[in-house]
Amino acid sequence: MMRNWHENNKNNGTSLLGTSIAIEQAPILILIFRDSESPWERSDTLSIGGAIENMLLTATSLGLGSLWIADTWYIKDEISAMVNTNLELFSAVTIGYPDESPAQRPRKSLDDLIN
Ligand SMILES: Cc1cc2nc3c(=O)[nH]c(=O)nc-3n(C[C@H](O)[C@H](O)[C@H](O)COP(=O)(O)O)c2cc1C
Repeated sequence: MMRNWHENNKNNGTSLLGTSIAIEQAPILILIFRDSESPWERSDTLSIGGAIENMLLTATSLGLGSLWIADTWYIKDEISAMVNTNLELFSAVTIGYPDESPAQRPRKSLDDLIN
């Protein structure tokens, strides 16, 4: 579904192709929905971010790889319809086994990040 959207909107400058490949290859895809009518939109958003970060940290601690995905935004209505919910697809996370290639990107030092 996401790859179809990418094929039809190739010049939109998004990371959709890479995201599509990650979704297709990962054994686990977690979809995170939210109630867009909730009066607690801001705190819900913060809570969702915190929950996702905990998922990623736990996956890493177990030696698994993960990808935090916002690109599901482009197909959120189709996904909500597919799983038959009125909730809004807010984000997604893939979890799988880290690929040996390419190697992990070099990390910035703490001094580069904090002034
Ligand atoms: C909120 C959020 C949404 C993201 N959405 C996507 C996405 O849809 N597709 C994607 O390829 N990367 C997305 N990323 C980036 C990756 O999750 C990841 O941070 C990036 O690939 C860098 O990973 P690395 O530091 O391990 O190299 C998102 C990151 C964040 C924080």
